[in-house]
Amino acid sequence: TLQTLRTALAAAEAGGYAVGAFNVSSIDQAIAVLDAAAAERSPVIVQAIAGMSAYDDESRWWHRLRGLVAEYGGVPAVLHLDHGRTYDDCVRAIDHGFTSVMIDASRTSGTDEPASFADNVALTRRVVEAAAPSGASVEGELGTIGGAEAGIAGVLEEIVFADPDQAVEFVEQTGVDALAVAVGTSHGSVKFTDEAGGQRLRLGLIAEIKGRLPDTFLVLHGSSSVPAEAVAAINAHGGEVRPSYGITPAQKSEGIAAGIRKINQGTDSHLAWSAALRTFLQDNPAVVEPSEQLRPAMGGFRAMVTQRMREFGSSGRA
Ligand code: 13P
Ligand code: NA
Ligand code: ZN
Repeated sequence: TLQTLRTALAAAEAGGYAVGAFNVSSIDQAIAVLDAAAAERSPVIVQAIAGMSAYDDESRWWHRLRGLVAEYGGVPAVLHLDHGRTYDDCVRAIDHGFTSVMIDASRTSGTDEPASFADNVALTRRVVEAAAPSGASVEGELGTIGGAEAGIAGVLEEIVFADPDQAVEFVEQTGVDALAVAVGTSHGSVKFTDEAGGQRLRLGLIAEIKGRLPDTFLVLHGSSSVPAEAVAAINAHGGEVRPSYGITPAQKSEGIAAGIRKINQGTDSHLAWSAALRTFLQDNPAVVEPSEQLRPAMGGFRAMVTQRMREFGSSGRA
């Protein structure tokens, strides 16, 4: 059953848990996520990024993804556009029936430069206005979360932390439902070079922003834990993923206690898929039947999603 992000996160707020937002780029991955949610009786956010899928035709992909999410009876699911870069990305998603969109206007379009506060507000405000007729929710971003290469030494300097005064102003001026806050996390499979990197979440900053914005739902991006076993399995089967440290599950639980209600979690399930697929192919070199290859990949993906739903406290809430 499709619902808006605001509805899902209001329930999470009342229940004191967070809803996982899992990135998918194919129908098989979406089924793995939705099967996990159904078995866990968990609400879920299925999220896709514009331009990132296994298919050439975005419109057909989004149309089928929406149909799939809508038909999973009993699973309260949000279909969310992750990291919309432009106004047009968001409008296309809304036109395809997404119930939530993120406009990531924290960087100037086409560059890695932080956008000015005024530019971020202006673009985000336009998206909020575009979403209003359909009732879709909108997530904005303040500060810049570390990028794919932020795991190398110097990462913290690359993160522009969210500022509580600006957060209040941003929400007042844009009317967003949810706010992604830069509080020390970093995107991608290569995160921090030391174990302490995964324990540097600024919990006080989360609590301060939440205290000042009681009606806005806070979102944690770049929250994967980068399990060492998954990286080791990939690398033992021909992969070359640089080992690094992600955000520990304990840190995420503390983040939830401080007020985080949506946790974006892409890399961990991608690592689980890749580990399972590489292991299967190397152990079964004669198998060419795609269903036999996809089954373990989907199983690894689903198991990772299941584990996170339990850690986030969303299991049993649907
Ligand atoms: P990870 O790369 O840590 O999984 O973060 C995902 C994310 O923030 C998607 O928006
Ligand atoms: Na998002
Ligand atoms: Zn993100």
